Amino acid sequence: MAKMAAAMVESGEDAFRKIFKFYKRRNPPPDFSDVIDFSRGLPSDKIVPAKLDPSAVSDVEGARVGLRPVRDWRAFGLQGFPGFIFISNPFLLGSQPSWVRRCLKTYPQKPNVCNLDMHMSPSETQDIWGKSLRGLSSPSGKREPKTLLEKLRWVTLGYHYNWDTKTYSADHHTPFPEDLHSLSEHVTAACGFPGFNAEAGILNYYRSDSSLGIHVDESELDHSRPLLSFCFGQSSIFLLGGTRRQDPPTAMFMHSGDMMVMSGESRLLYHAVPRILPAPEGQAALETEHCSPASSNQDGSVVEPVSEEDWVVCSRYIQSSRVNVTVRQVLGPGQRFPETPSSQQRTGAGQTAGYHEGHEDQDSVKRKRRSSCDSDDADET
Ligand code: OGA
Ligand code: MN
Repeated sequence: MAKMAAAMVESGEDAFRKIFKFYKRRNPPPDFSDVIDFSRGLPSDKIVPAKLDPSAVSDVEGARVGLRPVRDWRAFGLQGFPGFIFISNPFLLGSQPSWVRRCLKTYPQKPNVCNLDMHMSPSETQDIWGKSLRGLSSPSGKREPKTLLEKLRWVTLGYHYNWDTKTYSADHHTPFPEDLHSLSEHVTAACGFPGFNAEAGILNYYRSDSSLGIHVDESELDHSRPLLSFCFGQSSIFLLGGTRRQDPPTAMFMHSGDMMVMSGESRLLYHAVPRILPAPEGQAALETEHCSPASSNQDGSVVEPVSEEDWVVCSRYIQSSRVNVTVRQVLGPGQRFPETPSSQQRTGAGQTAGYHEGHEDQDSVKRKRRSSCDSDDADET
């Protein structure tokens, strides 16, 4: 098996950046033979089973948020990355569509904050879904102006991340969605973190040519709590590195439904998403999941059926896009935000940066190259 990516790295250099560029390259396309695929258990010498706590979540509670019984989850660790847990799509068949719809239709709504708010008025961004319907429902081959949904790059929930100051603040908070709170609580409990409190969320929306730059998530005030990540739609390559840019990262595929938990020693590691890829053939295509709606129509279920009308839009969107949701606990138990000078307590207005790269829209504001993750040419902090 070719050790293509790692072999290119010389000691002392920014190995992460080199490997990021390797996987981002279009022409010629890179060799993906080193990329770990947890869904297929390959290569088996790096993958170790992860120990879960099946008693932490009852089957009924899990099913309410669309999860299989924990004893059926395929959860893995990675040699050399203590605290990193990869759960290969633990969703019940037919339950992803309702999560995809939430990401596209519900979470971009007010009072949540999105990139479009940075240069559009609240009335213009208050119905992103509704304003995108016509463009996304029609199967036209013509190049139409991009819909708002296609221009969506990020949404923040709970304590809204400020991309400019790289901080959260007590002053800029809206209620965290209960359904996502519940999903996060169950997944983290099964992974050995009872009492996880989902306080902030960042949704990243990727088109087929998008990437996410090299960064560490360290703005949360309590790093003893895990960071949680959910993937929907197109697949991607995820790079997990070390505490230094010289440490060559390990590449792995993330497919729709996959989850990751970064905890312990893996909580503050460099990571990035250099590439979005078509979902593999043969993998239960998300498009067809809608035909087998989740049977968990029990009391309190958050997995409600998605109408045909809504699914046309969702499935067209995810045929070329990926959505990632990261959920963070910002404060430890009893912890408070430190007092900050009022200049620090900026809210959403005025921020421009996100940490996506590529696909800079002609009509979008030029993103500031300030965030550590904007560009692979930027120096990381
Ligand atoms: C993030 C992040 C990874 C992904 O939002 O901080 O690392 O898979 N996302 O999109
Ligand atoms: Mn991250």
